[in-house]
Amino acid sequence: MQTAKNRTTLFEIPVEALDSSQAEAELAALAETLRWHDGQYHGQDRPEISDAEYDALARRNHAIEKRFPELVRDDSPSRRVGVSPAQGFRKLRHSVPMLSLGNAFSQQDIRDFAEGLRNFMRELNDPAMPIDLVAEPKIDGLSLSIRYENGQLVAAATRGNGTEGEDVTANVRTMADVPKKLAGQGWPVIVEVRGEVYMSDGDFLALNDRQSEAGENTFANPRNAAAGSLRQLDPAITEKRPLRFFAYAWGEVSAAFADTQSEARQKLQSWGFSLNEPARKVCITNDDFSGLFAYYEDIQNKRASLGFSIDGIVVKVDRLDWQARLGFVSRSPRWAIAWKFPPEQAMTAVRNITVQVGRTGKITPVANLAPVNVGGVLVSRATLHNQDEIQRKDIREGDTVIIQRAGDVIPQVVSVVIDKRPAGSQTYPFPDACPECGEPLVRNAGEADTFCVNGLNCPAQAMERLNHFVSRDAFDIEGLGVKNIESFFAKGLVRSPVDIFTLESRDGEDCPPLREWEGWGEVSARKLFDAIERQRVIPLERFIFALGIPQVGQSTARLLARHYLSLGHWRECMEQAENSASEAYEELVSINGMGQNMAEDILNFFRETQNPDVLDKLTLPRRGQGPILEVTDFEPPAAISAIAGKTVVFTGTLETLSRNEAKARAESLGANVAGSVSKKTDYVVVGADAGSKEKKACELGLNILSEQEWLELIGE
Ligand code: IVH
Repeated sequence: MQTAKNRTTLFEIPVEALDSSQAEAELAALAETLRWHDGQYHGQDRPEISDAEYDALARRNHAIEKRFPELVRDDSPSRRVGVSPAQGFRKLRHSVPMLSLGNAFSQQDIRDFAEGLRNFMRELNDPAMPIDLVAEPKIDGLSLSIRYENGQLVAAATRGNGTEGEDVTANVRTMADVPKKLAGQGWPVIVEVRGEVYMSDGDFLALNDRQSEAGENTFANPRNAAAGSLRQLDPAITEKRPLRFFAYAWGEVSAAFADTQSEARQKLQSWGFSLNEPARKVCITNDDFSGLFAYYEDIQNKRASLGFSIDGIVVKVDRLDWQARLGFVSRSPRWAIAWKFPPEQAMTAVRNITVQVGRTGKITPVANLAPVNVGGVLVSRATLHNQDEIQRKDIREGDTVIIQRAGDVIPQVVSVVIDKRPAGSQTYPFPDACPECGEPLVRNAGEADTFCVNGLNCPAQAMERLNHFVSRDAFDIEGLGVKNIESFFAKGLVRSPVDIFTLESRDGEDCPPLREWEGWGEVSARKLFDAIERQRVIPLERFIFALGIPQVGQSTARLLARHYLSLGHWRECMEQAENSASEAYEELVSINGMGQNMAEDILNFFRETQNPDVLDKLTLPRRGQGPILEVTDFEPPAAISAIAGKTVVFTGTLETLSRNEAKARAESLGANVAGSVSKKTDYVVVGADAGSKEKKACELGLNILSEQEWLELIGE
């Protein structure tokens, strides 16, 4: 029998040099080899090669198939998912990230969106300049990216965390709405078509009927039904589910295929995709939004009769060259926005009020409700935000309240129905001690929130920090969800992030080994340990995010990583920044996008001695062993530009670019844009009427550029 070793090293000829018969033989061998490894991984749970080696084989298979599309086998590994359930789907990386959309809730939000466009693009500064937009329904399903090479469907992935999704290729092949081969012509050799998988209202009701007749679980709403059906490990089940697909966007493309969003829609349709209709092209000026507002009203009126669930409209800038210039901020495009419909409401009773302790110690009061259906979702809890909010609305236990749900946002209590208040009801006494650790709660003067300031000594905070640490955008440890963290925590097995990585080596020491716990087995325990093992190398920005510093979300974590480049350097600078008269402090607060307030939270994190201790334990070598984690340095976007990694300050009024566009452009070329001039500034770009910054730059002898010189430097 072949060993795993020679299975991975059989194939030495470069793909470009293969002739057709060699290719055929190799595809046959790869199909067998990959099937065998799938079996080891999923079925036997005894993987013999690393994920990286497996991926290399799969990539080779893919490369050969790409060169010889006529030789793709029916049993090709690119056409099937893993052998069997349990493990879940393989991960696929999105070559262009799948982002989300910013939200608008009112006409004013839409006016603000338009103003944002005008501020960003110099030639739109004049409010009378018309802007063409495309508006279309916002479908409430789940997004999917489908990759075509030479017109053939080769892969499909869910959005996942935006960077990496689940490989649902085999399932997507069963969907009637998705062409396996692109129709028509004019499609780029590589094109990733993106859109929404959804279920029509009628199909959803019929599916639920069938499910309940068969004694199976029913779904709460069409969106859940669509997600549950797409993410079936057995494609044969997906095939029986009435899934549909609307195309509305694209990811990687090997060549541009349209100049406008409307033209792109037509192309997508001509290649065989359904579009989300009714869409409309509208034109706005700052005095006149009537076309867009009318469309919104129109779709809202049609909402119930469309036959599928929508939760608003999406508005996109029509010109694709403008889209490209507008680019993205954080995880959403500047050139599009989702305008949501008003939330759906319902009436129910408050059974009681409890408080929750969050990751940062913030106390959130929660109303526990008699479960009620709000727009297709069963709601049994609603947030009450804070003490003032409860007082302002005078919400009491036993009250009847109106609640509402806006999209994915946690349900809220809108108001109390006073007529229904039971006799003898009492106002809610806000607790003065932490329900989890008993420490007195603190509410600072002038602030709305109440905190437990017991930090990691409060079990609730310690656990929430762990949950955050392993969450999807942080360490993303598969199989280590809230439930498992809770049970490891309760047993005292995991109290700090460090403990997660020593779980396996301590397994069976103080309590029975994991595989013997209720609900666990040999296979699931192995999988968890492997999942932990896989995440021992982590990029700096994810690591910073994982720390759960108040206010440091993904984009701030990225800002910090990008600015300080390595963990060591960041920590060193944060130690120095402790002194607010230091240069390191100046540097921290002058990072573009960082506020004083945020900087304080970061410094406070380092002041709490437990935190640097945990960092040391995670990243310093252990006696006789390497460190637990390897935090890799920030990798600036390939240094394709002269300004990658440089710090730039803009001052004065620029002629060709708005300040915002100039900043965004510099950042997209890998530069750091700072708000103030210091010794560390590499370039100061001065426009008309530059003031004190130019003066300071002269004094410091910095490199000062005119707008023209700057444009030349960045190759424009
Ligand atoms: S365009 C860069 N168009 O809404 C993102 N998205 O809230 C481009 N969605 O992730 C997305 N209908 O899953 C776009 N007509 C539509 C949409 C739509 C629904 C979803 C999509 C996106 C989410 C953002």
